[in-house]
Amino acid sequence: MNIDTVKLVYFSPTGTTRKILNGISDGFCAGSIEQIDLTLPTADTLAPADIQKELVIFGVPVYEGRVSKTAIARLQQFKGNKTPAVIVVMYGNRDYEDALLELNDLTREMGFLPIAGAAFVGEHSFANANRPLANGRPDAKDMQAAKEFGSKIQAKMKDMAAIDESCAITPPGNIPYIEHDGTHMKTMAATTLVENCILCGSCATVCPVGAICVEDAVTTDITACILCNACVKNCLNGARVVDDPMANKIANWVSRNFQARRDPVTFI
Ligand SMILES: Cc1cc2nc3c(=O)[nH]c(=O)nc-3n(C[C@H](O)[C@H](O)[C@H](O)COP(=O)(O)O)c2cc1C
Ligand code: SF4
Ligand code: SF4
Repeated sequence: MNIDTVKLVYFSPTGTTRKILNGISDGFCAGSIEQIDLTLPTADTLAPADIQKELVIFGVPVYEGRVSKTAIARLQQFKGNKTPAVIVVMYGNRDYEDALLELNDLTREMGFLPIAGAAFVGEHSFANANRPLANGRPDAKDMQAAKEFGSKIQAKMKDMAAIDESCAITPPGNIPYIEHDGTHMKTMAATTLVENCILCGSCATVCPVGAICVEDAVTTDITACILCNACVKNCLNGARVVDDPMANKIANWVSRNFQARRDPVTFI
């Protein structure tokens, strides 16, 4: 089977998922690559899209061992018709738990057939220089692995006579998926250190849920914030922080306990 067009469909607040998907498509050597970035609020109202004849590579970050809920809502606007897909979850070196299985099930419900899948590691959203976790990842080794995975997908597709269940993958995970009690995170949100802020507005432009308003001051809708840390990592003045006792406790705990390097795993 020869498919020359690849669509990269991703939600990627801090950019690591986007980077890995591009590495995979480099290895696939597609003739044409289309990027469908679902990160910003404009992606809430896409025209419903049927994707039939391309290979779609879906990528999402892992939040609490599962697929980010914002990503799920945006992905569900796409429909396939036994369209071949590759599913990728990106996690911060702790664990991806049931996220790959959840993305597999979700994309199948949407009409796609995942023929390959992977869990890659990216710098943890909560990490910084003081509490590092996978800082700088995906690094050169990860990008090489992404490229090799892309070549393997290309080879698998060449050998496939048709898209059917014999091409499907079976990712690991629990049924039912493990539910984490996220109540401790509900009261947490990014805030602004007024003394450092120059009201440049960058934080508002990268917020996936439109939670930030910059006028005479920066205000944040704490009920909307999904703690993605895009604003924190994009503020060049160090004025955006997620800084409350519970947030610090969680960030310090993951940084302390999950330093051993985890390498990408692929299913093909
Ligand atoms: C709210 C939240 C929950 C997270 N939960 C996990 C987790 O359960 N396991 C893990 O290893 N990383 C976790 N992460 C880290 C992200 O999965 C990781 O940093 C990913 O690379 C971010 O992708 P992006 O750069 O495309 O936004 C979490 C991040 C956030 C913001
Ligand atoms: S990006 Fe930083 S400096 Fe700019 S408005 Fe936001 S908080 Fe202020
Ligand atoms: S305000 Fe919350 S949701 Fe918006 S970019 Fe910052 S951390 Fe992410």
